[in-house]
Amino acid sequence: MLKAYHFKELRSTSEKAREFKVNSVIIADSQTKGKGRFKRRWSSLRGGAYMSIVLEPFEMSYLTFAAALSVYNAIKDTYRVETVIKWPNDLTYNKKKVCGILTQAGDKAIVGIGINTNNKIPKSLKDKAVSLSQIIGKDVDNKRLINAVLRHLEAYIEKLKNKKYNKIINEWKKRSFLGSEVVVRSIGKTYRGTATDVDKDCFLIIKDKKGKKTRIIEGDVIAK
Ligand code: BTN
Repeated sequence: MLKAYHFKELRSTSEKAREFKVNSVIIADSQTKGKGRFKRRWSSLRGGAYMSIVLEPFEMSYLTFAAALSVYNAIKDTYRVETVIKWPNDLTYNKKKVCGILTQAGDKAIVGIGINTNNKIPKSLKDKAVSLSQIIGKDVDNKRLINAVLRHLEAYIEKLKNKKYNKIINEWKKRSFLGSEVVVRSIGKTYRGTATDVDKDCFLIIKDKKGKKTRIIEGDVIAK
């Protein structure tokens, strides 16, 4: 059972989470130094849903997929909005980012989730990001949405404990962008092709025009 701690403002919930024990959830109304993947900043204006969950160190790639599925299901249950999971763990709507997830490994795993809910999207991000309130045309009840995320995550944690990795991967595939034409930036190289699959290690498989398959271990996907 996860236990939540709520703060008005933090530098970063993921930073604060390191002070807490396993099964704690750190929630903030805003962050002054929100962190994204690859050391990027995560815009964290008031109104959004920002949380970090402290967990035992499960297999990180499956945990990341499970976190994305938890948010996918929570948004669908609560607001009937179907997002698309973009590998490895962004949630998009009409190709714009609604949620980002940053999982950090260590003696404890920290799963940081940022959902654009009622926060203003800065001008510089307007072509890349969208808020849930813009999609549904009314305010989001952050408390209700966060609770839904945590209930789903608890169920996935049981699956992780029971090593039901195939279930998680198959569910992820159903909710994902697989089949789309993509451009992937990965460790200094750019790949173009169709995202065809993820393998048992959660790595992305893309197929280029000539039918050559590449397995992407880490990177950023830009859906065309
Ligand atoms: C990404 O898409 O780059 C990941 C963004 C993760 C943002 C969340 S907001 C809550 C938690 N605290 C942080 O500083 N980052 C994560």
